[in-house]
Amino acid sequence: MAEKELFPSEYLSPEVQAQLPEGYKLRALRKTDYDAGFLDVLRVLTTVGDIPKEKFEERFDWISKQDSSYFIIVIEDTNSSPPRIVGTGALLVERKFIHQLGSVGHIEDIAVAKDQQGKKLGLRLIQALDYIAKQTGCYKTILDCSEHNEGFYVKCGFRRAGLEMAHYH
Ligand code: ACO
Repeated sequence: MAEKELFPSEYLSPEVQAQLPEGYKLRALRKTDYDAGFLDVLRVLTTVGDIPKEKFEERFDWISKQDSSYFIIVIEDTNSSPPRIVGTGALLVERKFIHQLGSVGHIEDIAVAKDQQGKKLGLRLIQALDYIAKQTGCYKTILDCSEHNEGFYVKCGFRRAGLEMAHYH
C-alpha cells in the first residue's frame, strides 16, 4: 500500500515538478520523512529541538486533519542513497469573513539544505505553494521574512507590504 501523505497529490504543481533537477521529487510530507532528514532541513531555518518520532507522528496526524488548510511540501532527492529531504515549505490557508468570504495564504518555514542552496529549489518551493494557494482560492499570499531574505522573495514575485509586529508568549 502507498505510504500516507499529508494531503492529496492534486495540489502539487506539475509545472514545478517538471522544472526540478533530475531525480528531485516534489511531494507532500510523509511520516517516514522523520528518518529522511526533514527536521535537519528545518534546522537550517531555526531551532527545532529534540523531537521524538512518536511526537512527530502525533503532530503529523493533527495537521493531516486540518482539511485543506495546512499543507507541508517537501523536495526529495532520490539520487541520494537513501533518498533524502533537501527542501521544505508550508502554506496555511486562512478562511475569512471579509472580502466576501475570502481566503489568505500564509507561507511559513521555507528551508533548503545548505549544500543544495542556489539550485532554484527555494524558488520552486514558493511556486509550488503559490499553486496550492490558487487551488484553494486564496486572493493573496503573505509571509514574514528577514531583511536578508527580501531579495529572494522579490525574485519569487513578492513585494514589501506592511510591517510585521510580534508579541511573544
Ligand atoms: N538575497 C537575495 N537573493 C537571494 C537570496 C537572498 N538571501 N537567496 C537566494 N536569492 C536569489 C538567488 O540568487 C536566485 O536568483 P537568480 O534567479 O537571479 O539566480 C533566486 O533568489 C532564487 O534562489 P534559489 O536558488 O531558489 O534559492 P535557494 O534554493 O538557495 O533558497 C532560501 C533560498 C530558502 C532563502 C535558502 O537560502 C534557505 O533555506 N535559507 C535558510 C532558511 C531561511 O532563511 N528561510 C527563509 C525564511 S522566511 C520564511 O520561511 C517565510
